[in-house]
Amino acid sequence: MATSSKVTSPMAAAALLLASLSGVNAFWRMDCHSPLGLARIDPLVDYGKIAAHSHIIFGGDNFSPTAGYDDLIASESTSCRAKEDKSAYWTPSLHFQHSDGTFEVVGNQGGMLAYYFLRDGGTGQQIKAFPAGFQMIAGDTNKRNFTGPVPDPPESDWTADELTQASLAEKALGFNCLNYASGKTEPSLFRHFLPDKSFLDANCADGIRLELSFPACWNEAAGVAPKGSKSHVAYPNLVQDGVCPEGFSTRLPGLFYETIWRTQDFVGKDGQFVLSNGDPTGYGYHGDFIAGWDVPTLQKAVDTCTNLDGTLESCPVFTLQTQPEMAAVKLSMPADLKNENCAGPESTLPGNVPIQSGPQPATDNHGGVAAPTYAPSSYAAPSKPVVPTVSPKKPVYSKPSYPGSFSIQDIQNAGVASTSRIATSEASSTSAAVYVAVTPAPSAPAETDGGSIIGTTTYTSDGAVWEVAIKEIDITVTAEPTGAARRRRHLAQHRHIGDSHGL
Ligand SMILES: *[C@@H]1O[C@H](CO)[C@@H](O)[C@H](O)[C@H]1NC(C)=O
Repeated sequence: MATSSKVTSPMAAAALLLASLSGVNAFWRMDCHSPLGLARIDPLVDYGKIAAHSHIIFGGDNFSPTAGYDDLIASESTSCRAKEDKSAYWTPSLHFQHSDGTFEVVGNQGGMLAYYFLRDGGTGQQIKAFPAGFQMIAGDTNKRNFTGPVPDPPESDWTADELTQASLAEKALGFNCLNYASGKTEPSLFRHFLPDKSFLDANCADGIRLELSFPACWNEAAGVAPKGSKSHVAYPNLVQDGVCPEGFSTRLPGLFYETIWRTQDFVGKDGQFVLSNGDPTGYGYHGDFIAGWDVPTLQKAVDTCTNLDGTLESCPVFTLQTQPEMAAVKLSMPADLKNENCAGPESTLPGNVPIQSGPQPATDNHGGVAAPTYAPSSYAAPSKPVVPTVSPKKPVYSKPSYPGSFSIQDIQNAGVASTSRIATSEASSTSAAVYVAVTPAPSAPAETDGGSIIGTTTYTSDGAVWEVAIKEIDITVTAEPTGAARRRRHLAQHRHIGDSHGL
């Protein structure tokens, strides 16, 4: 715990302001710190076969091309922090295509955070633990365009077109430009496409965070694992919160993946970023999940671990393991894949997946058969993906995407004056929200304002992993509409707890 450890690097003026209103925005953040592996394995889409494209994989070590609930539950260990969580989490890896045509995987920073949002859309419904055998896919690997307005209109202005499941699903993807020193932050799910390399080079000194929100509404009658792993679930009408559509009345934890890729390692190199499924646009980003929880245990965590700080430490249901323990957990690679080098550099993407920029849907090359023969394209300026240009300087702050929660990257990024963010946000928000204002770390701690430490969290910066203690002190915020006193949570200390790792 950070509270009793030596502080190797101090931090200052780091404050997190919590406007605690409805109290329904509890969540916890499963830290899956080390990949199980990078491999063409996908038991949901390509069961029993070599998958079409490569994935970065986290969770129970029994993961395989045929893994199901029983296999995962029988895992000896997991690369996620809570030993009770043997679930499987996987998404496409991000690659860089050099100007000579060769591909290399982009380094992953800090593994994956799998958030479990515990939201009921104000209905008071119980959130039901993922049942045995539950699996789902979010996103569409063949999608290559975006149909809605850019940027998203305020939620209150969403029309019927913006409330269709297809529209909610395309808004469930996020590409968050990270620049800890800039004092600027982007809300989660602010941008729904992968920015191009020149944008990333110019603006995202700390890489790009890929975000994926899973549907949280379940039609129990459709079962836990229908063909395609999608038709049994739907998004609530605000993507991450709101009410469930008719027929999908069971509320599940709102699963949300965050995976950071070190695009900054390629600054100054000519080429392009592309997802392992051959998608340079990001619209085809997706993710897969097979629950690997003992159901009563997960239900207990969902019912009782409702602390708004999101830390696993505040949930007594979990047995936590250390980063070295997580890092030691690797999948046993199937014989057919042992010699495949998904990381590269190689002349093609893993599986020889063609790059397809849309806007028409990509050709489905699933099936585990060899991808169509494709001459490794020597890098010629690829046809430009249809990506709207959004200024990074004008993030939409009017409504945070997931009120009541935050990621530490948001905290590190936020350099906006706390009072102004409270004012703008509360003016348009009806539910609880966390707002942050910090000086980019590492810097010196402000230890002068007292308060007690209420939780810890981790973040990565400059290739190092830091643990932060969150303090709570009382302040009064005058600029916000109700004028009420608010608790202020303060990132009080932090310490170096390890080095980040690439793949
Ligand atoms: C946009 O994507 C959708 C879904 O993949 C597809 O049906 C549609 O044809 C695409 N639009 C264009 C203009 O290609």
